[in-house]
Amino acid sequence: MFSKKKIEDQLLVIFGSNGDLARRKLLPAIYQLYTGNFLPANFVVVGAGSQEKDEDAYRNDVEAALTEFLPREIAAQSDKLREFLKRVYYKKVHNQTTNDFEGLRDYLYDLSDKLEIRRNIIYYFSIPPFLYETVAFNLVQYGLNNEEEGWKRIIVEKPFGYSYDTAIELDKKLHNGFNEDQIYRIDHYLGKETVQNIMVTRFYNGFFEPIWNRKYIDRVEITAAEKIGVSGRGGYYDDSGALRDMIQNHLLQVLAVVAMEPPAIFDSDSIRNETVKVLQALRPIKGSEVAQQVVRGQYIATQVNDTLHQGYRQEQGVAPNSKTETFVAIKAFIDNWRWGDVPFYIRTGKHLPARVTEVVIHLKHAPHQLFKQLCLTQPNNMIILRIHPDAGIAIDFGMKIPGAGYKVHNVEMAFKYADLAETKIPEAYERLLLDCMVGDSTLYARADAVKASWKFVDPIIQAWQVNTNIPLYFYECNTWGPLEANTLFGDSYMKWREPKE
Ligand code: BG6
Repeated sequence: MFSKKKIEDQLLVIFGSNGDLARRKLLPAIYQLYTGNFLPANFVVVGAGSQEKDEDAYRNDVEAALTEFLPREIAAQSDKLREFLKRVYYKKVHNQTTNDFEGLRDYLYDLSDKLEIRRNIIYYFSIPPFLYETVAFNLVQYGLNNEEEGWKRIIVEKPFGYSYDTAIELDKKLHNGFNEDQIYRIDHYLGKETVQNIMVTRFYNGFFEPIWNRKYIDRVEITAAEKIGVSGRGGYYDDSGALRDMIQNHLLQVLAVVAMEPPAIFDSDSIRNETVKVLQALRPIKGSEVAQQVVRGQYIATQVNDTLHQGYRQEQGVAPNSKTETFVAIKAFIDNWRWGDVPFYIRTGKHLPARVTEVVIHLKHAPHQLFKQLCLTQPNNMIILRIHPDAGIAIDFGMKIPGAGYKVHNVEMAFKYADLAETKIPEAYERLLLDCMVGDSTLYARADAVKASWKFVDPIIQAWQVNTNIPLYFYECNTWGPLEANTLFGDSYMKWREPKE
């Protein structure tokens, strides 16, 4: 299922090993890789956390996390779990205490000597972003970036920076000790099978690509809708908002894969060279255009059936007068020959009626509508790339209703990705962790791509900050966000899709 590159013995150090991401995503992904026999013979996980605890206590924590997030697998595999836990170690490290990294270095070197493996080490920064620079700096202080006796790689979680300037600043700091090929900026959307499948769909088949351009495509709609609110993440989210949290990274990366040119060869540099060109070609939205091209919203307290959902401003960690957006919809353009003036509508929001991520390619109508008078529905040719749930592809087109005359009805021809896989579809984090372990950065974001997407997003954030006349619309939970989002289409008949789960 994964890269053909050889996997070497190695250590994976998780900073923030007691945190939510480590428990919920990273440890389960590592365990799945282990049980799937993807890990090398000598592989260990080292939890690096600020709490004082011994190895046994950490192993208990890991077991608890795996039992919580992989209940079925763990119930069925107690032997495997025991074996896995033997590969789990712990070292107390306070991220901001430089001296602690001397202890960490000695610990890791002793461990690699004991296991008789080279000092190949991945450092996973599963920590709050403000600590990235500090931890990178501390690693460098004690030579933990040194590749003489084995490679060293860092995986940095999103958000990478807080704006264009801070992303550049962070990048400079990380490069102070780590080369670009040692830095893995993770965007878990790129690890999703179905996002990668967009490339296969487009570039393996001969029949999509000829119509994949401004001549045949009317518009593209990209939606990432979530049913949940910000839950316990109000503190983080209030400084971030939907634009930074979902669009700057995940959805612009998806857009880049949908809109990229075919690379000449299938390797990391060629693919990333093409995706970055898309991001660089995004037409900047000027401050004066933000009100017309971007709609923001925030959910309010709503009674949905028997449940009262609290409003965003009542969430823990959120300022009571917060103007942070929990919904955003954007009309964007890619200024290049393929896409000309084709609008890309991008939308994301919390507390919407469905948990759906999809890309919809709306094709232009046939040039002459022969059946116009007979149609029961508007002609509607679409290619739907479903990322979540029910991953797959559907094509919508008109068919004659059997019987007399020529009545036409829209039908859907759908393929579900799950029908293809005999084994389970790997989680994004499994795929991405393994890619880093073998040194394949294709599905990690490159510095130039991160900068290009901040360049697009920054003026919108600035306009919201300086121009208080740009409205923040409130919407009820379990609705598709503010109705004003439909105004982006500039046509009173057109509105956003309301996909079902
Ligand atoms: C994260 C965001 O990066 O992606 C979350 O911080 C969001 O706010 C999540 O819920 C969505 O990811 P997925 O894979 O569930 O679509």
